[in-house]
Amino acid sequence: QPGFLRMYQFAFQENEIKLLTAEIERLKNFGCLGVSPSLEGLRDENAKLKYRLNFLKKSLQEERSKSVKSMININSCLQEIFGAAIQAAYPDLENPPLVVTPSQQPKFGDYQCNSAMGISQILLKTREQKVIPREIAEKIAKNIPANECIEKVEIAGPGFINVHLRKDFVSKQLSSLLINGVQLPAVGKRKKVVVDFSSPNIAKEMHVGHLRSTIIGESMCRLFEFAGHDVLRLNHLGDWGTQFGMLIAHLQDKFPDYLTVSPPIGDLQAFYKESKRRFDTEEEFKKRAYQCVVLLQSKNPDFIKAWNLICDVSRKEFQKIYNCLDITIIERGESFYHEMMKDIVKEFEDKGFVQVDDGRKIVFVPGFPVPLTIMKSDGGYTYDTSDLAALKHRLCEEKGDILIYVVDSGQSVHLQTVFAAGQMIGWYDPKVTRVAHAAFGVVLGEDKKKFKTRSGDTVRLIDLLEEGLKRAMDKLKDKERDKVLTPEELKAAQTSVAFGCIKYADLSHNRLNDYVFSFDKMLDDRGNTAAYLLYAFTRIRAIARLANIDEQMLRKAAREEVLVLDHEKEWKLGKCILRFPEILQKILEDLLLHTLCDYLYELATTFTEFYDSCYCVEKDRQTGQIVKVNMWRLLLCEATATVMAKGFDILGIKPVQKM
Ligand code: ARG
Repeated sequence: QPGFLRMYQFAFQENEIKLLTAEIERLKNFGCLGVSPSLEGLRDENAKLKYRLNFLKKSLQEERSKSVKSMININSCLQEIFGAAIQAAYPDLENPPLVVTPSQQPKFGDYQCNSAMGISQILLKTREQKVIPREIAEKIAKNIPANECIEKVEIAGPGFINVHLRKDFVSKQLSSLLINGVQLPAVGKRKKVVVDFSSPNIAKEMHVGHLRSTIIGESMCRLFEFAGHDVLRLNHLGDWGTQFGMLIAHLQDKFPDYLTVSPPIGDLQAFYKESKRRFDTEEEFKKRAYQCVVLLQSKNPDFIKAWNLICDVSRKEFQKIYNCLDITIIERGESFYHEMMKDIVKEFEDKGFVQVDDGRKIVFVPGFPVPLTIMKSDGGYTYDTSDLAALKHRLCEEKGDILIYVVDSGQSVHLQTVFAAGQMIGWYDPKVTRVAHAAFGVVLGEDKKKFKTRSGDTVRLIDLLEEGLKRAMDKLKDKERDKVLTPEELKAAQTSVAFGCIKYADLSHNRLNDYVFSFDKMLDDRGNTAAYLLYAFTRIRAIARLANIDEQMLRKAAREEVLVLDHEKEWKLGKCILRFPEILQKILEDLLLHTLCDYLYELATTFTEFYDSCYCVEKDRQTGQIVKVNMWRLLLCEATATVMAKGFDILGIKPVQKM
């Protein structure tokens, strides 16, 4: 019990009791605060208590040292500071607007607080007080509490508060980043995050829409994992439903000995097309197909075997793509939920939400014009039913705190209706659990029409990836990289560029918009592309190497050298590096990954500005010999590279040593 700490005040200070109480709550969430086996062995009550207190003290210390090691989100620090200042200046203002952003130009300082304008309006509206924003800004500025990051503030224009950061603060943060690596600020309670992504359909082709979902979903998972959450990556395969009836019926005809020999279905799509043609034209076949569905759904072993065979063919194809793109995902298709669907229908019926319409069972959800169909007139279940079952399972069995569906915008109404139905029936409260559709637009060809091959066929994903590889190699040869790299290095650069570019092109566009797929654009080594960033990265990493400074020397320097930020470009770069946590924390909220790409591009260009005007290594003009190494600048290079590497990792892009 948290209260028991009060009885042992002698062991702790007041603030420690607070922290420990919070710690107990946190451990309870993990379920580790029951009686652990090691505690059972301790007979003596006092010994138990001592053990437990020590355990808590230790985890408290760990937590503390972690917060020292992790990066600081400067933006939210400033928000806290200004929040306190506004609170002190206007104590009885409820929820005053709190706006802090990085400044666009050096003359406006490093960050800006723009709350004064909003407060002025509130005072006018709610109290009929006319106060000019400048006056409010001044009052806020006077109330800024003591802190370690602000050097000074200035009031500018109508009432902007320009913030100048302290050099030693920024410099210390950079040193800590170099010593401890990139770590996000602690997240509070570790959350269970379920991400539904990729999710192609068996027997039908995996198309570019699924490619988008795969790329965005993988990256989303990596981000939440990096933030310290527990992520469940789910492939909601379309592996169940009436089309399997015709596939199995066709399999029985084509490969009658499928129970003993694995049938060589090379091209499952052709197989699917054939069976569909027969289904539409042959009356007898159609009848048999329906019987097959019934037998499959009653889990007849032969039919399950046939179904598995068909699924395996698709699975292997999907896996090839996942291997190329380094995707980790577990399969939990629609079939997984089959047994639960009966109960779902019953639950909706019991609670009085079901209407019968022409033999179908439908559910109207307030605010949504089209009802969900939870049972067809033939007794079969639908995409709606399986999504309801999946939603409930993810909420109630998996105990997800955050559910994310990375699915094309075309399914928005379907998903929103399913989510609203889940709330209506009481499965979750949106104030507690976050259920989000991370929607994305369609992929277009360079002609701005639906993405197709020249002959008008849909593009097979594996062919697309192959072409990416070929084009990447052409580009590398174009740039004569084959003359400087070993064959292994060239191959590594080829895959890194090809798959990196395909992923980055997708991720760097706002997912909500449609996006034009263009190999030429994504392989351009100028502008906001993976080709540019990967190249910039290898160059940064090479700077220290070419000056014969190895990792160990850099690590030593990080502890001993002060990072001087006197040059305007050093200052700009240093601040840019430290914005990484605020970028990631924003994405955790809005799920828009392109901001990370924009940031990495800005970081790379800011680095170039720095590198063009600040010598890292000084050489003799005549002999080319190194005469001076400016270690603190090499450390800035290193900090840039560290953050870029982490950014690439989240985007699922693999940088190479040489390119
Ligand atoms: N298989 C579906 C399709 O290809 C996507 C599934 C998305 N996830 C979900 N829970 N509905 O369109």
